[in-house]
Amino acid sequence: MNIENIREYCLSLVGTTEDCAFGDDTVLFRLCGKIYACIDLNRPYLFVAKCSPDYAVDLRDKYSGIRGAWHWNKRHWNDVYLNEDVPEELIFSLLDHAYEQIRTSLPKKTLYNFPDIPENWQHFHFPELSSTMDCIAEFPAEENSDKVLLITTDVQTKGRGQKGNSWEAESGKNLLFSFRFSPKDFPAKSQFLLSQITALAATEALSKTLKKGVKIKWPNDIYYEDKKICGILIEHKLSGGILDSTTIGIGINVNQAKFLSDAPNPVSALQILGKEADRAAILRNFIKSFCTYYALLQAGNEALIRERYHKLLYRLDKIALFEDKDGIFKASIKGVDDFGLLLLNDEKGKKRNYSFKEIKYIID
Ligand code: BTN
Repeated sequence: MNIENIREYCLSLVGTTEDCAFGDDTVLFRLCGKIYACIDLNRPYLFVAKCSPDYAVDLRDKYSGIRGAWHWNKRHWNDVYLNEDVPEELIFSLLDHAYEQIRTSLPKKTLYNFPDIPENWQHFHFPELSSTMDCIAEFPAEENSDKVLLITTDVQTKGRGQKGNSWEAESGKNLLFSFRFSPKDFPAKSQFLLSQITALAATEALSKTLKKGVKIKWPNDIYYEDKKICGILIEHKLSGGILDSTTIGIGINVNQAKFLSDAPNPVSALQILGKEADRAAILRNFIKSFCTYYALLQAGNEALIRERYHKLLYRLDKIALFEDKDGIFKASIKGVDDFGLLLLNDEKGKKRNYSFKEIKYIID
């Protein structure tokens, strides 16, 4: 065991950065700018790690290789000697402990510290990812389990949108997350219900922040008036006619001031409210609503879900412009059917229905 192993382990802890702010010989490991461990190249036989005061006292009693840190506040920092009596597993667990000391003290809005989720949800926050969808796919699947895996990030280098588009989101400003779960004995033909409960939960979470004006643009874009504030991407793994697992990716424009891509009509909570909104609070409210709707679904209360979704539909019963393969036409939305087809009445009174890729809304 040597300090290079310590460095590698620290750098493997999500969000860790290293720097030499105290001088070239001293390497500091930080999470969100706060130091949790340090190696001193002039004393390569030890490292310094943050520790809770009570645990530090116990450790120092038990191991001669753990002592109050030289030059640091000894109440909170230990010197840990590498090749004395401290077992290897304990060394790594002391680094985990040091990292956790910092992680759990960070403001909730950083999302590193996000304790308010149900017990069966497991959460990891990453400073940067290609896409939360790709990241979640790398975690081993847990089928036949009620566990939900949630991945959040501050920025995506290859954020994915619907229909092969990319998803624009400025670093650190927005909510970017995916979660994966295995619905039990859920028929693939009912998958639109999962889309509906996701859209309902996102609408409710945003309505808590924006108060009014939030609607569902079929099938599952979330709009504030005539602008898009949230996009949803859903991927199912099927086995026969049953869902094995479902991954839902959500991007919510929270604190982005300007949109640079050619996305047609984006808007953020900041632009609507004129002040910053709390990403963590929106995520917390989303999870709360999603769990409520998921419980309704499991209890067989599909009618209520469909009714609420129907009421929140953007352009419901309003004459507006749409475009299909034959051109632009006027119609009003009458609802959606159980399989997710959009039901319209055109201006001649003719009933039409469309699947997702067959129709476009024309919005000024
Ligand atoms: C849409 O085009 O409306 C869907 C956008 C979905 C974007 C989110 S951001 C988090 C998750 N990761 C991705 O790469 N995409 C989804």
